[in-house]
Amino acid sequence: MGFLHLLWFPPTVQSHLLQVNYSYSVCMCMAVLQRIGVPTPSRLTKVSVRTCLIAELPFSISIICSEGEEWQCVRSLLGKHMLRPRAVETYDVVLNGVVSDLLAKLQLRRRQSASGLVTDIADEFYRFGLEGISSVLFESRIGCLEPHIPPETDRFIQSINTMFILTLLTMAMPGWLHRIFSKPWDTFCQCWDYMFQFGEHYTQILHQEDIDTGEEVEGRYLTYFLSRQGLPMKTVYSNVTELLLAGVDTISSTLSWSLYELSRHPEVQNALRGEVLTVLKGEKTPRATDVAKMPLMKAVVKEVLRLYPVIPANARVIAEKDIQVGDYIIPKNTLITLCHYATSRDRRYFSDPDKFLPRRWLGQEQSHHPYASVPFGVGKRSCIGRRIAQLELYLALARILIHFEVKPDPQGEAVCPMTRTLLVPKSPINLQFIER
Ligand code: HEM
Repeated sequence: MGFLHLLWFPPTVQSHLLQVNYSYSVCMCMAVLQRIGVPTPSRLTKVSVRTCLIAELPFSISIICSEGEEWQCVRSLLGKHMLRPRAVETYDVVLNGVVSDLLAKLQLRRRQSASGLVTDIADEFYRFGLEGISSVLFESRIGCLEPHIPPETDRFIQSINTMFILTLLTMAMPGWLHRIFSKPWDTFCQCWDYMFQFGEHYTQILHQEDIDTGEEVEGRYLTYFLSRQGLPMKTVYSNVTELLLAGVDTISSTLSWSLYELSRHPEVQNALRGEVLTVLKGEKTPRATDVAKMPLMKAVVKEVLRLYPVIPANARVIAEKDIQVGDYIIPKNTLITLCHYATSRDRRYFSDPDKFLPRRWLGQEQSHHPYASVPFGVGKRSCIGRRIAQLELYLALARILIHFEVKPDPQGEAVCPMTRTLLVPKSPINLQFIER
């Protein structure tokens, strides 16, 4: 994976693939992501297949897929509640409630096996991810971690999975082929339709509750805030949907890999547990202000995202002018895909790049190239959910380690990552949870 792809997708066609020499990879990331003076960075060409096809969908596109002023407007509204550290800290109580349910679920699952083995933990963490982001969006719970999961929840998660699997295929197929082999595109649309219905359903329930109580509630949760900005309700539904789907696989995958690596590195697990217990001084439930004082916790998650960046590649289109990177001229309007997975495992930037060494992020050793590992992207278009994701991961990891010793499956083998648009475990991750 030691190269970058520059792709033009149909129907702009003239599809071409340029393999850029290794030495340009991080320079390329910098050159492309740092485009100064681009007010609204874009990931897609206006004429890319994906944009054209998305235009056929019944709902308006939102923060992840929109561009220009439309994107800028939603980004600044959401940014106030998702990017400001103080605003994000306030979600810790509601997220801790979700973590409590996750612990109860893990207890239940481990008791079903004589050795405390929980199979396919990513599957459990999908529901945790969905419940977590729902709690932030709706400040209420949708039952993903109940013993009996609502069928619509599983269908939503399944729709996300299928949508991601089909994203690459539907992007790569030219429009005329979609008309001949319509199944992938039809299924792709059905997934989006269902996800939008789900987002709309929960937003409407909440909206109705507010009307019924008749109280002027503080803008505590994201959906409430969004629905009071004078945006068309269709825009609110589609943004809620995109935030919901962005919070599921990202959290599930990162939490799964974190526990996978900690189970295989008991010395790091013990040191991290020690840090948690020291900061908490006997308290059982950390607050946002506590996890902020845990450098090893931050280093563990950074290292996990370096090895397993859940979004392994990012994209930009520079529409204003051609740019030069090293010896290459990249024509304007080229869709440039930057492979972060490659740079973050490049031995020129990280010693022992395939090893899990969280301490590389601490102390003297932390002077890595700033663009070598950028799991949340960089700049104006970087991940808007980053702070919420980090808080959720820190709160979950801290409490899992307080309650359990996590060990590898005694019968298990090493698990590799694979891409499914997102980077996911290639085979199920099974772990033993031993009660402390
Ligand atoms: C470990 C967890 C996560 C990782 C590694 C991650 C990574 C990313 C990356 C790489 C991007 C593209 C950035 C760019 O183009 O420069 C992105 C965008 C985005 N992420 Fe995340 N993400 C995570 C969790 C979340 C969560 C929990 C949410 C929702 C609360 C979220 C919402 C979004 C949204 C809405 C965008 C699009 C932002 C825009 O286009 O302005 N992400 N994320």
